[in-house]
Amino acid sequence: MRIDIISAVPSLLESPFADSILQRAQTKGIVSVNIHDLRDYTTNKHRKIDDYAFGGGAGMVMTIQPIAACIDKLKREREYDEVIYMTPDGEKLTQSVSNQMSSLKNIIILCGHYKGVDQRVRDLFVTKEITIGDYVLSGGELAAAVLADSIIRLIPGVLNDETSALTDSFQDDLLAPPVYTRPAEYEGHKVPDILLSGDQNKIEAWRMDQAEKRTLERRPDIIKGEE
Ligand code: ADE
Repeated sequence: MRIDIISAVPSLLESPFADSILQRAQTKGIVSVNIHDLRDYTTNKHRKIDDYAFGGGAGMVMTIQPIAACIDKLKREREYDEVIYMTPDGEKLTQSVSNQMSSLKNIIILCGHYKGVDQRVRDLFVTKEITIGDYVLSGGELAAAVLADSIIRLIPGVLNDETSALTDSFQDDLLAPPVYTRPAEYEGHKVPDILLSGDQNKIEAWRMDQAEKRTLERRPDIIKGEE
């Protein structure tokens, strides 16, 4: 999979992809993440990428010219499945959205800033708009990193133990059960006996029961049919 991220502050996107699972996915050649500095595409001699809003009001608006130039260049090089705009008024990111997107080949992610992009960018280029939650970030970069991370870890071969994505929270409309590691007892607090029993069937049944209890308690809204 190839992900192209267009940003006015590309340095914000360096570290999320430079370590751990996301870095390994790139080294293995499973995913290629390409960051584009929007200012490299502006024809403005001061490298400006924003302007005042027509009609007045506080806040700057990102202009169409550099965004169009960058997207047009990328589209001349290959076909894209989606051009995604990160914005608080988009569709809410869920595990199901990430699952669907993990099978795509090429995507562009556009990060907004200030008051957002000129509406014509959305009308002419954007095929999908995504929010990572009902709060406003200073820019779309952190949201883009969240989206990319949630997609990349689902691509087959990215995680060493393939089952570990399958047992993530939300994957079966359930939260994950509690997990424990050594020591088996910490200052009198013991790991549940069943996990030390070696009986894999009982352990799986316990985990499912715990996952259901946790989901009912914390997130009854995600249980199928409740949304
Ligand atoms: N840009 C600013 N806030 C955002 C959010 N919550 N989700 C996606 N992009 C954003």
